[in-house]
Amino acid sequence: MGKKILLEHINVPGIKGLEVYRQNGGYASVEKALKTMAPDAVVEEVKKSGLRGRGGAGFPTGMKWSFLAKPEGVERYLVVNADESEPGTFKDRYLMERIPHILIEGMITSSFALGAKTSYIYIRGEYFYVSRILEAAIEEAYAAGLLGKNILGSNFSHDIFVQVGAGAYICGEETALLESLEGKRGNPRIKPPFPAIAGLYSCPTVVNNVETIASVPYIVMNGGDEYAKIGIGRSTGTKLISASGHINKPGVYEIEMGVPVEEFIYSEEYCGGILNGKKLKAVVAGGSSVPILPADLILKTEKGEPRLMSYESLSDGGFATGTMLGSGGFMVYDESTSIVKNLYTFARFYHHESCGQCSPCREGTGWMEKILHRIVEGHGKAGDVDMLWDIQRKIEGNTICPLGDAAAWPVASAIRHFRKEFEEYINHPERIRDKMPVV
Ligand SMILES: Cc1cc2nc3c(=O)[nH]c(=O)nc-3n(C[C@H](O)[C@H](O)[C@H](O)COP(=O)(O)O)c2cc1C
Repeated sequence: MGKKILLEHINVPGIKGLEVYRQNGGYASVEKALKTMAPDAVVEEVKKSGLRGRGGAGFPTGMKWSFLAKPEGVERYLVVNADESEPGTFKDRYLMERIPHILIEGMITSSFALGAKTSYIYIRGEYFYVSRILEAAIEEAYAAGLLGKNILGSNFSHDIFVQVGAGAYICGEETALLESLEGKRGNPRIKPPFPAIAGLYSCPTVVNNVETIASVPYIVMNGGDEYAKIGIGRSTGTKLISASGHINKPGVYEIEMGVPVEEFIYSEEYCGGILNGKKLKAVVAGGSSVPILPADLILKTEKGEPRLMSYESLSDGGFATGTMLGSGGFMVYDESTSIVKNLYTFARFYHHESCGQCSPCREGTGWMEKILHRIVEGHGKAGDVDMLWDIQRKIEGNTICPLGDAAAWPVASAIRHFRKEFEEYINHPERIRDKMPVV
């Protein structure tokens, strides 16, 4: 069994409540940090840990924290990104639903490090019931003196607020999130300035993913060096993976970074192999935005080395033959899957969720959906694949936020690795339609 940090106590009866959480070592990091450490020492441990943001981009957390501007007399904020709208990703929900105090504990300790008197959890509208769980946990923490004025008798005071979004994927992008938190339409901001300089209400702000912040208590209790020993290379620690699709055991798994992809898919400890003994066709390893890889390239790199569940190994080969760990939304497709139809589903999503601010994304996502729709309906035209390729190239890198890239990469990778399937759809729609009913 691999090392467990976040899910170690997940099956302890009553762990959702404060009492049982504390009996299992909960909130010890708040005691330790507030009573024995200086804020900068906490930042230092997080830097040493090598922890990288779990929201998708993998940016080093300690480095992000050290960029936070600290002008005299100006508020600073920590904002937890619990928007989790990336298709295929549901690990933050699992954590918040089952063990909400690990996030609250991480937020108090992290806010102490950052000098933030107030923090927010921005949670997607569809997780309304989870927001209730968080609010109940926050109330318990106030009652126990873990939140509010002079926490545990220290000089540090802190308040946490939960803000429910209205169900928009774009509000997971950190600057759109801040706009929405301020009560405005969730359009991404032009950067710079980055949130560390001018974030919420123009004040210095750190935005971190739920899983990132939930990893902080372990780092404070065990030290950054110990955390950095877990995992592989620059992919330190553990990672929550949301596993779905044609596998025997879908669910949320905590893996030690560096587990071979093959072991993750086929071992009983994790996904338990492909459903009904079928063959693996492809995997989207990090949420719908990352490039899809065919079976041979997800199991082994182009150099023939086993592909590992880590930032570096999954991206080995660049976009030509690699992909990304992203948010860890691991979607497995068996041999019966239509890559074209799957892509159409993704394209509909991105078109629907584009905020419309940048024309390449606003128009391009719509065109891609339209072309893919006619292909899956059996009305594809010669030249459609080239046109799709052309459109995605014109979106990538030409938008304010990376939603444009997120919409382009699945299209580019599906064409790169499965072009024949598109051509078969266009040239012989009747063959495909018999095998794969159109949505
Ligand atoms: C369209 C879009 C959606 C995003 N959705 C999320 C999300 O749901 N959760 C999240 O943590 N990060 C999301 N991100 C990434 C955030 O912008 C940001 O990088 C992240 O919250 C930083 O936290 P981290 O450093 O802990 O990963 C999204 C980015 C984009 C472009």
